[in-house]
Amino acid sequence: MAAGGRIHSPELARKVVPADAAAALIAPGSTVGMSGFTGAGYPKQVPLALAKRISEANAGGARFRINVWTGASTAPELDGALAAADGIELRLPYQSDPVSRQKINDGLMEYIDVHLSHVAQMVWQGFLGHLDVALVEVSGITADGALIPSSSVGNNKTWIDQADTVILEVNSWQSADLDGMHDIYYGTALPPDRRPIQLTRPADRIGEKYLRCPPEKVVAVVETDAPDRNTGFTEPDEASTRIAGHLIEFLEHEVSRGRLPANLLPLQSGVGNVANAVLAGLGNSSFEDLTAYTEVIQDGMLGLLRSGTLSVASATAFSLGPAAVNEFNDNAGDYRDRIVLRPQEISNHPELIRRLGVLAMNGAIEADIYGNVNSTHLMGSRIQNGIGGSGDFARNAFISFFVTPSTAKGGAISGIVPMVSHVDHTEHDVHVIVTEQGLADLRGLAPRRRAALIIERCAHPDYRPMLEDYVDRALSGAYGKQTPHLLTEALGWHVRYMETGSMLP
Ligand code: COA
Repeated sequence: MAAGGRIHSPELARKVVPADAAAALIAPGSTVGMSGFTGAGYPKQVPLALAKRISEANAGGARFRINVWTGASTAPELDGALAAADGIELRLPYQSDPVSRQKINDGLMEYIDVHLSHVAQMVWQGFLGHLDVALVEVSGITADGALIPSSSVGNNKTWIDQADTVILEVNSWQSADLDGMHDIYYGTALPPDRRPIQLTRPADRIGEKYLRCPPEKVVAVVETDAPDRNTGFTEPDEASTRIAGHLIEFLEHEVSRGRLPANLLPLQSGVGNVANAVLAGLGNSSFEDLTAYTEVIQDGMLGLLRSGTLSVASATAFSLGPAAVNEFNDNAGDYRDRIVLRPQEISNHPELIRRLGVLAMNGAIEADIYGNVNSTHLMGSRIQNGIGGSGDFARNAFISFFVTPSTAKGGAISGIVPMVSHVDHTEHDVHVIVTEQGLADLRGLAPRRRAALIIERCAHPDYRPMLEDYVDRALSGAYGKQTPHLLTEALGWHVRYMETGSMLP
C-alpha cells in the first residue's frame, strides 16, 4: 500500500509519480477535464506543476494553452494558477476565481457559461470536441481499482469515461469517512435511449459508491495531502438577515394556507453570502425535519444538518468555509448517513427537480420590474461568476426564489432596475423576489401587477420613486401595454452608473 494508506490497488500504486512528471503528460492544446466544484475536490498539485511548466514555455515564446473543463469553480491552485500563467484558452462551465474573471473580462480567455446539468450530455454529444485527459482528485483507491470520490463529484464520471487518459490525485487530507457517502449513477444515456431516473426522495440511492475506471487508462497517480481551499462566507449582515426573515415568513404562510407541507419540500440553496445567510436563518426558525436536494452543501446547510433541522441533504459537492471544512472533516462519519453526493447531471437534473418539487433559492445580481433576473453580469458585459446551477433549479422548481440586497456598492446601484442588463432567468422562471425591503410573490400576476408589487415590496426607498416614474411614463408612452418599456431609457440607469459612479441622478 502506498503512502497515506489510500491506494489499495497494487497496479495503481505502481503508477505513483511526482506532480511534475504527471503534468508533463499534458500536451499543449489539450482539453483537460478536471475535478473540482466550488472549491471542493479539485486536483491540488498537478495544475500547479502544469502552470509552472506553461509559464516557462510561454516565457520562452511558446503559446502553451489548454482548455479546462471542470464541475464548477475551483480554487487558486487550479483556476488562479493556470489563468495567471496565461495557460487557459477556453474555460467551462462556471468559475469564480478573481484572476480568471479578470482574464475573461480583459478578453484574454474564452469562457462558455452553461447550465451545470448540461455539461455531461454536451460532452457525450461530442460537439465540444475531444477530451484528452481527465485529471481527478479522489480520496482513495480500492483493492480492485475502484475510485473513492472526494469532497465533490461534479463531472468526474464523465471525464473518466470520455478522456483518453486519466491522471489521479489521491488526497489523504480528505476524510476516509467520505467512503460510502457518494452515489454514482451510471444509468444516464443520450436520447432515444433515456429511461426514467428512479429517484423519488432526496435520500434515495440509485447508483454505486465508487467511480469506475479501467486501470489501464490511468497514466499517473499523484499523492497529495492538502486541504480544500473554500473561501469563507461573510457573517450574515442586516440585509441578509432581513431577507432570510421575509423568506421564512413566506414559507410559514404557505404552510398555513396548505400550499406546502409542514416540513416544506426539498430545499435548494445557491452559492453566495446571501443564500448562505438564508440557510442560517432557517436554523433559527420553527421548521423541522427539512430535506435538501441541492447542488452544494455550504456552511449554513451543514449547520442545519448538525442541529437536526435538516434530516438529509443530497448534493454534488461541499462548499464550506475554512472553519466548517475542518468541523466536517473531523466528524464526517457522523454525517455519512445523511449526506448523498451525486454526479452533477443528477444533482441538477430537471426531471428530478421537477418531480421532487424543489424550493429553489438563488442569488441575483439584479432583477427588473417585470421579474427577469440577471445572475451573472455586471453592467451587461462584465462576468461575475456564471449561471452555475441556478437555471437548472429555477426553471424546474416548485417555487423559484431569487434573493438580492436592494442596493449594491453603498447604494450607488439599485438591485431593482427598469430592465436587467443581462438575462439569465426570464420572468417565466422567477416566482418570488426577495430583498431586505420585502418579498414580492409574482405567481399568478400579469406584468403590470408584477411591476407594481416588485417596486412596492423590493425596491430601495431611494429608487422607488424613480421606478414608479418610469412605469408611469412607460404606461403612457410605450409601444404596447402588456410589458410597458421606454426602450431609450430602459438601460439608462446602467449607463448613468458607468458614467457617474451612481445610478442616482
Ligand atoms: N451591479 C454591480 N455589482 C453588483 C450588483 C449589481 N447590481 N449586485 C451585486 N454586485 C456586486 C457586489 O457589490 C459584490 O461585489 P464585491 O465582490 O466587489 O464586493 C459582488 O457583486 C457579489 O455580491 P454579493 O451581494 O456579495 O452577492 P453574493 O455573494 O450573494 O453572490 C451572485 C450573488 C449572484 C454573484 C451569486 O449568487 C452567483 O454567482 N450566482 C450565480 C450562480 C448560482 O446562482 N449558482 C447557484 C446554483 S446552486
